[in-house]
Amino acid sequence: MAATDIGIDLGTANIIITMGNKGIVVNEPSVVAYDKKKQCVLAVGNEAYKMIGRTPEYIVAVKPLKDGVISDNVMTEAMIVEFIRKVMGRLVKPRIILCVPSSVTDVENRAVVEAALSAGARKVFIIEEPIAALLGAGVDISKPSGSMVVDIGGGTSDIAVVSFNGIVKSCSLKMAGNKFDAAIIRGITMKYKVLVGEKTAENAKKQITNVFDPTGENRITVKGRHLIKGLPESIEVTDRDMYDFLIDSVNEIIDKVREVFEQTPPELVGDILTSGIVLTGGGAMLKGLPELISQKIGAPCRVADNPIECVARGVSKAFDYTDELLDGFQKISLYRYK
Ligand SMILES: Nc1ncnc2c1ncn2[C@@H]1O[C@H](COP(=O)(O)OP(=O)(O)OP(=O)(O)O)[C@@H](O)[C@H]1O
Ligand SMILES: [Mg+2]
Repeated sequence: MAATDIGIDLGTANIIITMGNKGIVVNEPSVVAYDKKKQCVLAVGNEAYKMIGRTPEYIVAVKPLKDGVISDNVMTEAMIVEFIRKVMGRLVKPRIILCVPSSVTDVENRAVVEAALSAGARKVFIIEEPIAALLGAGVDISKPSGSMVVDIGGGTSDIAVVSFNGIVKSCSLKMAGNKFDAAIIRGITMKYKVLVGEKTAENAKKQITNVFDPTGENRITVKGRHLIKGLPESIEVTDRDMYDFLIDSVNEIIDKVREVFEQTPPELVGDILTSGIVLTGGGAMLKGLPELISQKIGAPCRVADNPIECVARGVSKAFDYTDELLDGFQKISLYRYK
């Protein structure tokens, strides 16, 4: 890998960029602020995030990727170009490997690649998220032996069985971190008649969720608006509440894991029973999730080290494997440029 190589994990929630041997150089929210009058990007990442909901009409501050798909092409391209320029400085024409959500269409892929090229890239590769996730988790995927990864991000959960550098079976569902937050907001509204904001719900999820064996003793105070009184209110939510709010959503993902297993050739199923299921993405940090999956599926399950940065680490490693990994790249011929 050359010092100028740039790896990008373009996620719904976060964009993580690695560069050469420096490791991660950007880990910021996937947000862009655009001035419609001057037709230019004002800010990206953390700076743009602060502007959401606080801008005059001619400035838009948006998350251009929603539910794991590109909902605003122009803004996504503008965001990518800006981020690449930011990290690139005066570098000469880097190689870029991009990891895009698995439900992104070919046309959208093409647009993302064009954006990277227009920012000055010499060569752009697209890598599929599960391949990058497994590489990042340190799994050797080059052998004809099955590995399974479940990546739970902000917009989508991706489940895949990989063998011999390629995806054998996969499935992507729009049930992940953002939907968990929405389920918590709904749950608190129904049970306590208090409406809380997204950030509050997300924070409670990170702090006290336990989807395996909640005791009811871990609690957190959350603040919101009482729906009947209309006034601010503080309430205490327990880990058992969180279990009740989230278990249906989590089970939806586990049901899909079961479906993927059902469609996987038996030899590979045998391999996975030995090697175990690997969890990556921010959602993998839900407490009790590996235990719950193990119990319901009957295969061992572990969370990758630092799961939120796993895909980005894998993208960075992929530079060493560009030849061997051809199958892992989507339509590589389409994206090879001289
Ligand atoms: N400790 C935690 N417990 C539970 N969820 C967490 C924790 N930390 C982060 N998350 C959640 O992880 C999600 C973000 O994960 P990640 O950065 O992997 O998503 P992404 O790659 O941007 O999205 P996608 O892969 O869907 O495009 C958010 O919904 C966030 O709330
Ligand atoms: Mg992701």
